Amino acid sequence: MTLRFLAEPSDMNFLGKVFGGAVMKWIDLAGYTCAVGWSGQYSVTVYVGGIRFYEPILIGHLVEVHAKLIYTGRTSMHIMVDVLAGDPRGHAFKKSTHCIIVFVAVDEDGKPVPVPSWEPVTEEDVSLQQYALRLMGLRKGVEEEMSAHIGR
Ligand SMILES: CC(C)(COP(=O)(O)OP(=O)(O)OC[C@H]1O[C@@H](n2cnc3c(N)ncnc32)[C@H](O)[C@@H]1OP(=O)(O)O)[C@@H](O)C(=O)NCCC(=O)NCCS
Repeated sequence: MTLRFLAEPSDMNFLGKVFGGAVMKWIDLAGYTCAVGWSGQYSVTVYVGGIRFYEPILIGHLVEVHAKLIYTGRTSMHIMVDVLAGDPRGHAFKKSTHCIIVFVAVDEDGKPVPVPSWEPVTEEDVSLQQYALRLMGLRKGVEEEMSAHIGR
């Protein structure tokens, strides 16, 4: 799933480039579209990991937000999101950020509900599924480390 649009003046930070919060919103929107499309259910963000901004995005540049499902659990969907941007007068797009965002399908009461299982077909899909599983493993250590500061 790809969202494609121009970075607008309303997305601007105090230095005249795109605000990081605007990029995070785009990531959430692309992930949400992918998650509800797969599950056929309303879905909520449960986790966003590893956002690092590699390149600034300039106002007026064309932005592409690519979202791809790479793993499903019982109720969760792990979606890989890449954000690319470039001058619409040329063809050179640079990757601004990459992250994994996890959505959970929920019912009308906000309770998790099962999602259709995603089975990797191509070699690339298999490798991306393994990537998602490795990140899940790494996250356990991070969450243990953070738990003392979360207060719940
Ligand atoms: C998402 C939510 C419904 C999950 O409820 P819960 O009672 O914790 O449910 P569960 O423990 O059964 O977990 C549900 C799924 O979330 C996954 N999950 C929970 N914490 C996770 C984390 N840190 N990273 C990745 N997945 C996680 C679980 O693995 C499970 O997936 P699975 O069924 O595929 O194994 C609940 O936490 C919630 O409503 N959170 C707020 C969501 C929201 O409002 N988001 C917008 C930003 S405020």
